[in-house]
Amino acid sequence: MIVNVEDARRAARRRLPRIFFDYVDGGAFAEETLAANRADFARWTLVQRVLNDVSTRDLTTRFLGTDHPLPFMLGPVGFLGLYAGHGEVAAAKAAHAAGIGLCLSTFSIASLGQLRQETSGPLAFQLYVMSDRAIGDELLEQARAAGVETLFVTVDTAITSVRERDVRNGFRSLTRITPALALKFAMRPLWSLDMLRAGRPEVGAIAHRPEFGRGVLEQASHLSRRIDTRLSWKDIDDLRARWGGRLVLKGILAREDALTARAAGVDAIVVSNHGGRQLDGAASTIAALPDIAEALGDSLEILFDGGIRRGADIVKALALGASGVLLGRAYVYGLAAAGEAGVARIIAHLSEEVSLTLGLMGLSSIDELKRRGRAALRPR
Ligand SMILES: Cc1cc2nc3c(=O)[nH]c(=O)nc-3n(C[C@H](O)[C@H](O)[C@H](O)COP(=O)(O)O)c2cc1C
Repeated sequence: MIVNVEDARRAARRRLPRIFFDYVDGGAFAEETLAANRADFARWTLVQRVLNDVSTRDLTTRFLGTDHPLPFMLGPVGFLGLYAGHGEVAAAKAAHAAGIGLCLSTFSIASLGQLRQETSGPLAFQLYVMSDRAIGDELLEQARAAGVETLFVTVDTAITSVRERDVRNGFRSLTRITPALALKFAMRPLWSLDMLRAGRPEVGAIAHRPEFGRGVLEQASHLSRRIDTRLSWKDIDDLRARWGGRLVLKGILAREDALTARAAGVDAIVVSNHGGRQLDGAASTIAALPDIAEALGDSLEILFDGGIRRGADIVKALALGASGVLLGRAYVYGLAAAGEAGVARIIAHLSEEVSLTLGLMGLSSIDELKRRGRAALRPR
């Protein structure tokens, strides 16, 4: 039974081939930042206040210029369609049923066009800046055509870190399915059947370009090699000029970069360390957030991700200055465990936990929580 995110994680581990479970679950090098992203939430306690009428609680949250019924959305995670058949569509449908949005990763099986055809709720797009400008322009064009209003540009992955679990499993050098791997897949029959039914996976955004080869593994490896390793602030200015919609920088962890982002005229930042998958030894995001929030005040919107597994984590991030939160692994575990229903289960669980946590803190809305801000918490 899936009662919380950890249950979903365990179910995902049983269902997925290890090479994919470890890819989702793991972090860079010693995984210290991955662990800190979780552990540091415990450095804050929630202030319990009583005797306010909290019989109804309003989770409506304003971020990215819109009212959302919940304080979170589904963040960009690559290859959703490899954790469950048609995974991007499943995740988007579950999100939309709850009235929230999904940000589609550049590295997705479904293209934006396909996703737009099969779903009707809010979609954002996450862009990796490519050294080949023509590909970048094409991705932006796909986003425009799908009616995307918000572009998340990920800025913490110009170079890719080492995830040792992936090295051990041979994930990093994977360009085709070897017989040994096929055998391992066969040991996960539910997942294998699901994949077979979904058909041959490709990287949807570039599947029509023959120079990327065929099949998701080959295409992803070609696409990764085109990520611009020289990415700099100049490229952000350039993007600002090329993209008329809302522009969000994802992967800010230092106060100085937050201030530069503001000067560059972006609409928001995501305080993120890529879920502990890039700079191991970096601060956890919940530790980095207060300093960035203090530097920016109300002058630039802050979103947050990293280690969110509980409703209380979301409440803490909002109290410390985030206007909204992105889920990462939390919903992916649900997806891998039980497809669309699994994602829906995680969304429902986190919503309920946020609502109860608010109520038990003596708060009846997210607005009230944001007004109370840091006074809603105490350092442990
Ligand atoms: C398997 C996996 C794939 C990811 N792929 C992307 C991606 O394609 N683009 C991106 O901007 N972030 C990507 N991320 C990072 C997430 O957007 C997010 O920052 C991170 O997962 C948040 O941490 P959490 O998973 O602990 O909540 C990925 C994360 C995971 C776990």
